[in-house]
Amino acid sequence: MQELTPETITGAVLDQMSTTTDPRLKQIMASAVKHLHAFAMDVNLTPAEWIKGIAFMTEVGKICTPARQEFILLSDTLGLSALVNGLHDNTAMEEGTHTSLLGPFYREASPALAAGSQIAKTVKAGSEIVLYGHVSDVNGRPIANATVSIWQTGASGLYDIQENAAAIDYRGVFSTDANGLYLLRTVRPIGYSIPMDGPVGDMVRAQKRHGMRPAHIHFLVGAPGYRELVTALYLRDDPHLEDDVVFGSSGDLAVDIAPKDADCPIKGLPSIRFDMRLSRETAADKAGGRVGADPSAILKQPA
Ligand code: BEZ
Ligand code: FE
Repeated sequence: MQELTPETITGAVLDQMSTTTDPRLKQIMASAVKHLHAFAMDVNLTPAEWIKGIAFMTEVGKICTPARQEFILLSDTLGLSALVNGLHDNTAMEEGTHTSLLGPFYREASPALAAGSQIAKTVKAGSEIVLYGHVSDVNGRPIANATVSIWQTGASGLYDIQENAAAIDYRGVFSTDANGLYLLRTVRPIGYSIPMDGPVGDMVRAQKRHGMRPAHIHFLVGAPGYRELVTALYLRDDPHLEDDVVFGSSGDLAVDIAPKDADCPIKGLPSIRFDMRLSRETAADKAGGRVGADPSAILKQPA
């Protein structure tokens, strides 16, 4: 019988798993085992540390509900979600606007609003801005009737559903016109903290990180024949643009609020222009697979 040692155990596990018939599962599991074993060897993982890790993952699982996905938050704060998004961008047929995190606060049930509508139910004096831009293909040809879903935090730095699960505020769905233009009014987004009251928050604090996301507005843009775009714009002057706790902000998604913009279709308000270019859809895109996930779709509440 083969003697199992730290030097031979990896090979033994890979041998035993080599009967896996699904080739992609086989590849993923073999790589996961190799990297997990290499990690344990690298840090010389002790039994006490191993059990602490198990306890941590158990807490991450226990706090998950249909409205809260702590595993995604863990993935976000470890940069894994941003990495997977970047790898997904690399598979696009053409280089369109880069993706950013969907985050846990997207909801299918958002109101369809007419062009130019204000998405916030209450607007504090001086906070109103116009948000507009063109949705086009990668060659700049306008895409009419694209669906542009927008969501952001309100003045409290919370999403509507964090304050009241049934509330709808600071979100809406718009359609582009014949020139690919989308146009709405909203309020200045403000930066906010990710949920810090769970095990991921404990981890972030232990690492002396701040837990903040820079001010941003989320977009989900779709049009027949194009790859769905999940992205966000980030305010360039936010102090956390460079150290977003979930690594979603990146230079090419940073925007400024222009005090005056002669091209803005609504006059007399500061505005943000954010144009988006969609890549054509591939066969793999047609099969589905959103960049990000609605927590309620991952874990349904027991009946
Ligand atoms: C968000 O932008 O909504 C978000 C993304 C990742 C974690 C928490 C929030
Ligand atoms: Fe967000």
